[in-house]
Amino acid sequence: MYNNLIFENRDHILYITINRPKQLNALNKETISELNSCLQTEGNHRVIILTGSGEKAFVAGADIKEFADFSVEEGKKLALDGQIKLFNTIENLHIPVIAAVNGFALGGGLELALASHIRIASDNAMLGLPEVSLGVIPGYGGTQRLAHMVGRGKANEMIFTAKMISAKEALEWGLVNHVVPQEELLAKAESIAKQIIKNSGVAIEAAINAVNANYKDGVDGFNKEIEEFGKCFGTNDFKEGTDAFLNKRKPIFPGK
Ligand code: CAA
Repeated sequence: MYNNLIFENRDHILYITINRPKQLNALNKETISELNSCLQTEGNHRVIILTGSGEKAFVAGADIKEFADFSVEEGKKLALDGQIKLFNTIENLHIPVIAAVNGFALGGGLELALASHIRIASDNAMLGLPEVSLGVIPGYGGTQRLAHMVGRGKANEMIFTAKMISAKEALEWGLVNHVVPQEELLAKAESIAKQIIKNSGVAIEAAINAVNANYKDGVDGFNKEIEEFGKCFGTNDFKEGTDAFLNKRKPIFPGK
């Protein structure tokens, strides 16, 4: 169904694997379109785990072969389309996306991990924004999201030097939540996903909206939190969660 993705829905988790191993899973236009559609696939999944195929790369960036002869206007359109179709779509998705970073996460690859809600890395992963070594800058949100995540000084160093950091350093910098041996990467992502799935999906969606509000221009995050908090009181999940607590039983959330 897709030329560049493999996907599978198992136990309420949608696994999406970017599958261009010969090109180190670089993001060409078609892969971005396919991801846009796959991420928004309707189904009974409650969490998405996003990874790259093979043992070498998560994603080695935007596809350099595709944009090498672009004009100024084409360059602008590449960044705009990518941000709208993929990176903003992930960040604002109603369910959590866990990036399982299984190797190189460079340029657009690190930007993909940054747009995801949670990042886990295998111990061989190398992360970086090497765009200035190509005479360009990160265009898929990296200048914004990396600075938010690790602070402006560290982001500047990574962007200006174009150097990669190891998974261990990424953990120290707060860029990834966990580092595990490669063979344990998906199991670790799954264990976090399973923990998420036990909770109320509507509350998690509200939490995504509220947390994201902090990063949106002109939006008061505290007001957004108050609004989303209030909305939860009108949901069946809230009734079920509080009733279960008061009756000392496990909740079975209806998800609405
Ligand atoms: N785009 C297109 N093809 C890529 C690619 C990319 N980003 N990264 C790797 N490839 C291809 C290589 O061209 C090579 O293909 P061929 O066999 O057809 O030559 C294949 O993947 C294997 O790569 P290497 O032979 O280079 O593998 P290596 O082990 O020697 O090096 C690497 C691995 C250090 C990751 C190196 O491939 C590399 O530096 N890749 C580019 C990383 C990069 O600069 N990413 C940023 C892209 S720009 C961007 O993302 C802009 C944006 O923000 C919007």
